[in-house]
Amino acid sequence: MCGIVGYTGLGFVSAEAGAVGHGAPVASERPLEVALEGLKRLEYRGYDSAGVALVGPGLEQVSFSKKAGKLGNLVADLESRPLPAATAAIGHTRWATHGGPTDTNAHPHLADGGRLAVIHNGIIENFAALRRDLSADGVPFVSDTDTEVAAQLLAKEYRASGDLTAAMAATARRLVGTFTLLAVHADDPTTVVGARHDSPLVVGLGEGENFLGSDVAAFVAHTKEALELGQDQIVTLTPTSVDVSDFDGKPAQGKRFTVDWDASAAEKGGFSSFMDKEIHDQPHAVADTLLGRTDEAGNIVLDDLRIDEAVLRAVDKIIVVACGTAAYAGHVAKYAIEHWCRIPVEVELAHEFRYRDPIVNSKTLVVAVSQSGETMDTLMAVRHAREQGAKVLAIVNTNGSTIPRESDAVLYTHAGPEIAVASTKAFLAQITAAYILGLYLAQLRGNKFPDEVAAILAELREMPRKVQTVLERSEYVRATARSMADQDKVLFLGRHVGFPVALEGALKLKELAYIHAEGFAAGELKHGPIALIDEGQPVFVIVPSPRGRDQLHSKVVSNIQEIRARGARTLVIAEDGDDEVRRYADEIFWIPQAPTLMQPLLAVVPLQIFAMALATAKGLDVDQPRNLAKSVTVE
Ligand code: F6R
Repeated sequence: MCGIVGYTGLGFVSAEAGAVGHGAPVASERPLEVALEGLKRLEYRGYDSAGVALVGPGLEQVSFSKKAGKLGNLVADLESRPLPAATAAIGHTRWATHGGPTDTNAHPHLADGGRLAVIHNGIIENFAALRRDLSADGVPFVSDTDTEVAAQLLAKEYRASGDLTAAMAATARRLVGTFTLLAVHADDPTTVVGARHDSPLVVGLGEGENFLGSDVAAFVAHTKEALELGQDQIVTLTPTSVDVSDFDGKPAQGKRFTVDWDASAAEKGGFSSFMDKEIHDQPHAVADTLLGRTDEAGNIVLDDLRIDEAVLRAVDKIIVVACGTAAYAGHVAKYAIEHWCRIPVEVELAHEFRYRDPIVNSKTLVVAVSQSGETMDTLMAVRHAREQGAKVLAIVNTNGSTIPRESDAVLYTHAGPEIAVASTKAFLAQITAAYILGLYLAQLRGNKFPDEVAAILAELREMPRKVQTVLERSEYVRATARSMADQDKVLFLGRHVGFPVALEGALKLKELAYIHAEGFAAGELKHGPIALIDEGQPVFVIVPSPRGRDQLHSKVVSNIQEIRARGARTLVIAEDGDDEVRRYADEIFWIPQAPTLMQPLLAVVPLQIFAMALATAKGLDVDQPRNLAKSVTVE
């Protein structure tokens, strides 16, 4: 939710080996180039507007440009009205909260007679009161944003102290809400100051230059060395120094880490969209998430687990907290973990969890699932759970993000960067990681014999190959989607683990193709939703393996017959060799045979491809659907 980038550098490259040299800073194009490149990589976080602000030696004022709409509009403006060379830059891509997506409301916001510029991610809850006070003092406001209040407050503090770092700390102490703020001032053209409170900010450590970003994607093309900032910290960046302090001005420490993927992982790699690329990354996402989880004897070892084994043995309830696709991954995991470990598992939308007075105590294990590691609703649920005495284990994809930092333990998914706003490969990686957790608990608590754990792990290890097979069969799915571009309502049915897959299929279609889509538990249909079926209504049905237990397959086949009898057009996802279902399907998308609990990793893939292809046929932007942002850092 809003992407933030900051840069300061010496501005020249020494003769030897292209290394950045040392000496007096020189104004160059690099700050703007780095900022725009960072914004391009962060645009998935919001694309209502974009802007940059530059400072440099001899520049009396901040130079800036900001434009409503996608980054392309800003780039076009910069081409027609170039900005001067500079030594430091800040850049912003916005997901609007306060004030519509206009040029005026775009960031940066300027103050101090155009000598100070501020960008912001988050929501300042007390902005109305602060704005009233500042207005009473004669401060003029030009935008409808909460950010402008922070800019004016910072200007006031700066005029009082003459020190941008101290002014930022004083401003941060006055603000209520969530914020990452970055500021530059024309007085000090090689300094960028940042503050973070409940919103992400990471430092990239370069040579003769330093970077800031909402996440490492902003600067990974330039450096893999990074510094994770803690909550309520201020960072002051110059080309050769990074100083961290708290909001009271006391020195503080960030945590160094090395980014484990390179910039090419965040490129489209020949695909027409990030979404297409990420769907095709899925075999790797599953395989990499499985890597290194066992010792030589085949036992599962979870290195980052800092929760005492005795505590894990005593767990009597698991609550998965997550939002959206991550919550559906949690739903899938519930079936597996309950089955393997015999521990009750609840799955709760993170934003509902903490407002319903949940029963949580020291025997509860809360599992927070999040691709970004920054989702505010999930973070708040994590904090609430810990306050109630629960241990929290995070399943997260993004290194250096907040949720793992605030959890007792972390199990990283290794899906690589997910840039398309709608989640795909993270879903498969989250299910995989949650399954590893389930198997680990089953091993630890003795619910499964080692050979049983090993057999399930072997099934999991087969999945990347099978996902690849589904991908290779995607042309029929794409063609079907193209032929359905004028649909306005699609339903999805599934039973058992197929139910969350149906929910995920419907979510993908809603967010990518803007089509009304609903997922139902197949058994629930007759309790009401069957009234939605009329002649020609397309219904996707996820059919369980005919080799599975509990007559799941025959129950779903009956459900298909029920809807067909009422005119539905059935689009069936079924296992290779399922001859019975063939008779009841208008279209069949075949997936390889797999045990029931593994099927979601396959069945969801045609649904992702269907949504993407249908949206593409409608001419929509599948990477950046309207109104969405990837990392939802507001509640
Ligand atoms: C759907 C989607 C969202 C996210 C949700 C949680 O395609 O992307 O529903 O899954 O906002 O995000 P994370 O996993 O970052 O916490």
